[in-house]
Amino acid sequence: MMGKGSIQIDHAKRDKLNSKSIGREIHYFEKLDSTNSKAKELAIKGAVEGTCIIASSQHDGKGRYGRTWSSPKSGIWLSVILSPDIEPERAPLLTILAGIAVARTIRELCDLEATIKWPNDVLIDQKKVCGILTEAICIGDEVRHMILGIGINANFDISELPEDVQNSATTLKNELGHVVSNDEFISNLLQNLDKCYKKLKQRKFRELLEEWRRLSTTLGREVKIRDGEEEIQGLALEIDEFGALIVRDRNGKSQRIINGDCIHISRS
Ligand code: BTN
Repeated sequence: MMGKGSIQIDHAKRDKLNSKSIGREIHYFEKLDSTNSKAKELAIKGAVEGTCIIASSQHDGKGRYGRTWSSPKSGIWLSVILSPDIEPERAPLLTILAGIAVARTIRELCDLEATIKWPNDVLIDQKKVCGILTEAICIGDEVRHMILGIGINANFDISELPEDVQNSATTLKNELGHVVSNDEFISNLLQNLDKCYKKLKQRKFRELLEEWRRLSTTLGREVKIRDGEEEIQGLALEIDEFGALIVRDRNGKSQRIINGDCIHISRS
């Protein structure tokens, strides 16, 4: 199962990364094109649910809408293979639960006030520290696996990111003024992911969404949502049980938004 260039995790490290379902198989790579691509390849070859692929750097990291995700060395770039038994309309809840797990980990380990911007960003002080890319592997009409890709700007300087994102992004190192242990962060993150995923499998959607609401920096704000040519501006009112954002537009009409780029305009 181990790919070329991967490093078999030793027992001490596995104990440290003590997680139950998520992370029960871990593949480390020094360099990869994209952990999501490697996760897809392994999922198709039959990797067990919860398998996690981690890379120190990616040379073709993937962001949403086909964008490039800059992934310098010392970041945390990882993907998890999941096969949740949920309705396809609830697939966005995977992104929701990943946001919760990342924000929780940052709060617990770094004591920083991480918040979630709908649908897939974790912010510190309104600057992006993490992006999440959830992709489906379909066979015919059926969703076989979901790949949960999480990118955390961890232990590098902002100057290593492309210039056009330097003003809107941050790193854990930049916020803390020192480095954090990537192993410790990953261990804690996998445990938080595991807890949240369990809730999803137990269909405790309300509990998950309650936590998301507490961590959200989007609800209550004036937002602009762009999805291709479409654009809606209004007040972010709620998240529904499928992970869609409910926005009251300028005509006072409630719009249910499933996907899009969200721009925070102001606090209401
Ligand atoms: C976004 O905000 O556009 C989502 C970025 C997701 C980046 C992560 S890094 C680990 C995983 N592998 C990838 O190629 N992309 C995701």
